[in-house]
Amino acid sequence: MTTSIRPPFVPPVRGDFASDFLWGSATSAYQIEGAALEDGRVESIWDRFCATPGKVADGATGAVACDHYHRWPQDLDLARSMGMQAYRFSIAWPRIFAKVGAAPNQKGLDFYSRLVDGMLERGLQPWATLYHWDLPQYLQDGGGWNARATVDAFLHYVDTVTRRLGDRVKHWITHNEPWCTAIIGNYEGLHAPGLTDFKTALQVCHHVLLSHGKAVPLIRANVPAAQVGIALSLHPLRPASASLEDAAALARHDGLRYRWFLDPLFGRGYPQATLDQVGAAAPTVEQGDMDAIAVATDFLGVNYYFPETVKDAPGHGPLEAAVAAPPLEAETTALGWPVAPEGLSELLLRIENDYHPGPIYITENGSCYDDEVGADGAVDDLARRAYLQRHLAALKDAIDGGVPVKGYFAWSLMDNFEWAEGYRRRFGLVHVDYATQRRTVKASGKWYGEFLLEK
Ligand code: FCB
Repeated sequence: MTTSIRPPFVPPVRGDFASDFLWGSATSAYQIEGAALEDGRVESIWDRFCATPGKVADGATGAVACDHYHRWPQDLDLARSMGMQAYRFSIAWPRIFAKVGAAPNQKGLDFYSRLVDGMLERGLQPWATLYHWDLPQYLQDGGGWNARATVDAFLHYVDTVTRRLGDRVKHWITHNEPWCTAIIGNYEGLHAPGLTDFKTALQVCHHVLLSHGKAVPLIRANVPAAQVGIALSLHPLRPASASLEDAAALARHDGLRYRWFLDPLFGRGYPQATLDQVGAAAPTVEQGDMDAIAVATDFLGVNYYFPETVKDAPGHGPLEAAVAAPPLEAETTALGWPVAPEGLSELLLRIENDYHPGPIYITENGSCYDDEVGADGAVDDLARRAYLQRHLAALKDAIDGGVPVKGYFAWSLMDNFEWAEGYRRRFGLVHVDYATQRRTVKASGKWYGEFLLEK
C-alpha cells in the first residue's frame, strides 16, 4: 500500500481520527525519575550497569535524570497543557521491594499512588507499565530473568502493585519490549545486565513472556475492568538486496525478531524453523508454559521507530543475519535510525493480517534529534515535528486500511536518560535542561498540543 506522503504533504488533523481515539505520551521510571536512593529505593540493574565503566555514554546515570520524582506535578501539567488524555509511565520495582521476601515499601507505593491521583486530577488516563527494564539488582544476583524464580518474584510484585493502584489504574502493560530485555541486555550486552550469552538471552525471553502470561489473570483478579496488554518493539523488515541469500537471512531474522514474540503470544508456540536454527540455545520450556503465554489480552502495544534492512551475514551471530546500515542517502535521525513513516502502516497491516490481535495501541513512536535552545529560548525541532506529523498520517493510512488502532503515545513526553546513550540523545516533546531542570515545550510539542486541541 502507499501512504499519504505525496507532495504537498498536509499534516493530519485530529478529526481525521475517531473521536474516541486515545492520545498521550510515554515515559519510563528509570529514564526520568532520578531520586535513586530516596524513600527506600534499592539498586537496579541499570544503576549497576551505569556504574560499570564504558557501558553508558559520558558515564551518565539515572541518579538524577529529570528529577521527575520531585517535579512530577509540573510534568503532568505539561502533558495536560498539550491536551493529552493519557499518560504511559512505568513503575520501578526497586522502589516496591527492597529484597526477596521483604514487606512492600510503602513509601514507594505511596509515590505511585500520588502520581496516579495527579494524573486523574488532570484528566490523564494512567497507563502503567510494570516492567520497563529496571530489575532489582538483588534479583539479577540470583540469576535475573534467566532464573525461573524471577517469574514468581515478578508476580508477587505485580500482585502488590495492582492491589494498591488497581482501583484507579485500569490500563496495564506487563512488559516493555521483551526483545530489548532479553537480546540487547543478555546477548548483545549493550543494555543491563550486559551479558553476552545467546542461550541465556532466549531463556530470559521465555521467562519474560511467561511472567507476562501469568500476570494477566492476576491483574484481572485484582483490578475490576482491567485492560491488560504487552508492548513489543517491532520493525518492518526489508531485504538488503534481491538475492536469495538476503531473502533467506531476512526470514531467519524475522523468525527471531518478530515471530518469536508474536507467535507464542497468539497461541502458535515458538516458530519451529527458528527453534531448529537456534538448536541447543532453545529455552527450557515447562509443561503449561506455552498455554500461559498464549493468554488472551485486551490490546497489543506496538512500539515503532524504524524499519530494519536485513542482509545475509555468514558467521555473524546465531542466525547469520545482520541488520544493515541504512544507505547514505537515506533520511535518518540523529541516532542514525531511518525515518520511514510508511513503515508504520506496513508493520501494522502485517500484524493485523498475521494475528488479528484485536485493539492495537501505538505505545511508543518518536525521534531523536540534536535539539538546541535558541537565543529566544525556543526549541525549533522542526524535524521532530515533521516526523510526528508524517507518522500520524501513516497511522491514519493503517486505520483506513482496516487496522484497529485505538490510541497513540508519543515517545517521549520529555527528554530523558536514553539508556546506553545517556543524556546526549533527546526524544522529548519537551526539552529538559539537565543543569537547571528547566522544561521548554519544543515546536513538536506545541504542534501536538495544537493538533490535540484542534487549533
Ligand atoms: C525504546 C524504549 C524507550 C526509549 C525508546 C527511544 O526502545 O522502550 O525506553 O528508550 O526506545
